Amino acid sequence: MAPTSTKSSLKRVLLSALCLPVFAAPVSADVVNYVSGAPAKDIKILKEIVKPWEEATGHTLEFTSMPPSTTDSFAQYRLWLAANNSDIDVYETDVIWAPQLANHFVDLSNAASDVIDAHFPSIIESQTVDGKLVALPLFTDAPALYYRKDLLEKHGAAVPSTWEELTATAKSVQAAERAGGQSDLWGFVWQGNAYEGLTCDALEWVKSFGGGQIVEPDGTVSINNEQAINALELAKSWVGTISPEGVLAYQEEDARGVWQTGNAVFMRNWPYAYALGNSDDSAVKDKFGVVPLPSGGSNDKSAATLGGWNLAVSKYSKNPDAAISLALYLTSPEAQKRRALELSRLPTLVSLYDDEDIKTEQPAIAEWKDIFLQAVPRPSAPTKTKYNEVSSKFWSAVHDTLSGNGSAAENLELLEIELNEIKGNSW
Ligand code: GLC
Repeated sequence: MAPTSTKSSLKRVLLSALCLPVFAAPVSADVVNYVSGAPAKDIKILKEIVKPWEEATGHTLEFTSMPPSTTDSFAQYRLWLAANNSDIDVYETDVIWAPQLANHFVDLSNAASDVIDAHFPSIIESQTVDGKLVALPLFTDAPALYYRKDLLEKHGAAVPSTWEELTATAKSVQAAERAGGQSDLWGFVWQGNAYEGLTCDALEWVKSFGGGQIVEPDGTVSINNEQAINALELAKSWVGTISPEGVLAYQEEDARGVWQTGNAVFMRNWPYAYALGNSDDSAVKDKFGVVPLPSGGSNDKSAATLGGWNLAVSKYSKNPDAAISLALYLTSPEAQKRRALELSRLPTLVSLYDDEDIKTEQPAIAEWKDIFLQAVPRPSAPTKTKYNEVSSKFWSAVHDTLSGNGSAAENLELLEIELNEIKGNSW
């Protein structure tokens, strides 16, 4: 449950927001349909956060659940939006989708004009397409390396700072623990399924080896290079050794499942796994730490892929005013604070990184700020409406490599040709 002070401040923001024209005297009690593929705990908190808004406006939130994979949600959203579906009012959208879905959403620039400056400018920029604010930032995302403090201490191992070190430590701790009877223990779990999550993981390997960003900000296809090949070959060596074969089907929640039952030394995951990992029913509660992901080598820098989720209002909504009012409310400081405290979701509002309650109750969020500020964007801005195609070609080439279906060199050479074909004369 939320501390009472958070609840009453939620009420305060709502009452002050009632002065905005968009909240003014609701003429009807509308049902606002909200879609999201967020994990169960996020939805539980959403339903709690929304109550004061429902009471004050007379509107109700109706929730529609999506599959956890962002790739699957995107496919469904695209179908609904292409059909001008008016059943969904508010879409929870991935940071990479703004350029592809912009035409289907309401411009929120005017409705949000008072609050835009409170968010990190880079996030607002990522959601702005041709001057239109396509979605309001809900939380931002940047992954880290989760490590088992107890196991590293027990085996006298240091927290790795390069991928080579991670490989060696994962191998030795896994071997020692298995010899001691922990037969289910794995060295490293991550997201190897053929979907957007693998694009994120593999971009981190490639970028941290100095192998670029797949497509560079100026539109050049850069993926076919020696460093990228080395990065993917190293990742391939993990499958079946320090990572289970099944990692090739893992998404975030699968990796977290193995980790949270105490069966992994290291995990690559987003901040949400922090609060869940420290929940009372977690086998790793208070036993783990987080650090930036490893780098490719001593001269290379660590790279974290920039993620994050936003709220967009459908152009086909029959209740756009109520939907906008909900989006403003759910992205407000009080709602973001509650999400930070209970779900370790990173705020998009700059001021919350100085919030005393967040600093005390979720100290990891302050440390995560630097990871997020240096995070690497996927090439959704340069590739515009072709991003999904680009990403799916990339994750397929990576998945093939990890599965032993062609070498990294062969697959990246082919990928370069395919991406240049998709590009044509320009993106
Ligand atoms: C997280 C990120 C999102 C990314 C997804 C990949 O949800 O916030 O940006 O696309 O993971 O699985």
